[in-house]
Amino acid sequence: MRPPHAALLLLFILAYFRGAYSSVSQSRFTSIISFGDSFADTGNLVMWADPVLPGPQPLKNLPYGETFFGRPTGRATDGRPVLDFIAEALGLPFVPPYLDKGGNFSAGVNFAVVGAPALTLTYLQGQNLTVNPPINSSLHDQLLWFQKLKPSLCKGQGTDCFRSSLFVMGEFGANDYRSFLVSNRTVEQATAYVPQIVDTISQGLEVLIRHGAKYIVVPDIFPLGCVPTVLTKLASPNKVDYYRNGCLKSANRLGRYHNSLLRQRIKLLRHKYPHAKIIAAEYYRPVLAFLDMPGHFGLNSNTTLLTCCGAGGPPYNYDFNSECGWLGVMACADPSQALQWDGFHLTESAYRAVADGWLHGPYADPPIMHVARP
Ligand SMILES: *[C@@H]1O[C@H](CO)[C@@H](O)[C@H](O)[C@H]1NC(C)=O
Ligand SMILES: *[C@@H]1O[C@H](CO)[C@@H](O)[C@H](O)[C@H]1NC(C)=O
Ligand SMILES: *[C@@H]1O[C@H](CO)[C@@H](O)[C@H](O)[C@H]1NC(C)=O
Ligand SMILES: *[C@@H]1O[C@H](CO)[C@@H](O)[C@H](O)[C@H]1NC(C)=O
Ligand SMILES: *[C@@H]1O[C@H](CO)[C@@H](O)[C@H](O)[C@H]1NC(C)=O
Repeated sequence: MRPPHAALLLLFILAYFRGAYSSVSQSRFTSIISFGDSFADTGNLVMWADPVLPGPQPLKNLPYGETFFGRPTGRATDGRPVLDFIAEALGLPFVPPYLDKGGNFSAGVNFAVVGAPALTLTYLQGQNLTVNPPINSSLHDQLLWFQKLKPSLCKGQGTDCFRSSLFVMGEFGANDYRSFLVSNRTVEQATAYVPQIVDTISQGLEVLIRHGAKYIVVPDIFPLGCVPTVLTKLASPNKVDYYRNGCLKSANRLGRYHNSLLRQRIKLLRHKYPHAKIIAAEYYRPVLAFLDMPGHFGLNSNTTLLTCCGAGGPPYNYDFNSECGWLGVMACADPSQALQWDGFHLTESAYRAVADGWLHGPYADPPIMHVARP
């Protein structure tokens, strides 16, 4: 089993570096401007947490960050999320968090915050939903930060200030749906909010375009029914509630509905703003591919639904009272072979494979590297 896996992985890594190498000198992009949640945060929440947020801050503890960085950085994974691999491939520095007041934003800025929903805190709490963390970090709030920073980003840049900026909008939505589930609402109740959530994302895209964004990556959401937190929360005794790969049908249906509406909106926006290049990127299909062919991606087929950094043992190794980053909760021996990192987020090795699909295809339309060529 091992040699073919290693060989595939090597080929994959070689392909990745070839892509990165050949592109660096000929990319049109000189900066990345990112919005989103824990799938993109590179340190905003942990900076915010000083001293406003109550309670423990698991993200500030190992084993978060143990791979690659060797220390916790505020990223919600063991190593690098997709955004870091995009930055590397474009020859740009890792995108610095907006809340790093000493940050150098000349090659980009990241507004993404762990836990950020598309809808605002005030709105979600008004629906009697539990929002965790309860802070103003939504898409709307991130756009306000962007507008505040814009004059300094555009200083001395002329009128077409974002002509060589790659915007990444998302993903957004996963935390809105998570707040329904932690508030003990049903998937059906959450489904009623999908059009409103997708509208909010679409309106956010229009704000960016009106501010001069020309190149925007818009990721969809991952299959919610395939992650250990959701599988644990919505566990069912009925086999018919699950697909053969072990994912929950109802939660995946919610994800597919969100993604199909988002795709429709992207089509409309491409029509309305033909000068903008909107790249539709995917988390959904690659996660299913990892579950279908784990060996192909160097992942261990026995652990695809097991939380690497968690507790409680099979089937999901997830316990709401013993989460990653808490005292005594350990990571699995080899995160590079695991898919699920902490119950909601994926491992660096999964993110690397997703990023490769966004950069070179097939998981982005069009692939980022095709657009990056000047
Ligand atoms: C900020 O970063 C840019 C490019 O990444 C670099 O050229 C510049 O020298 C940096 N500025 C400071 C003040 O460090
Ligand atoms: C929220 O809860 C309050 C108090 O129980 C109730 O009056 C209100 O109608 C609820 N709002 C929604 C949107 O469910
Ligand atoms: C969030 O923003 C709203 C509206 O601006 C404000 O009323 C509320 O106090 C803020 N909440 C927190 C936790 O900062
Ligand atoms: C949801 O249900 C669980 C189990 O019944 C309960 O422990 C928890 O307090 C509930 N949470 C909310 C927000 O109602
Ligand atoms: C998966 O588990 C089975 C049974 O324990 C074992 O024989 C097999 O080697 C494992 N596969 C991998 C890829 O570790």
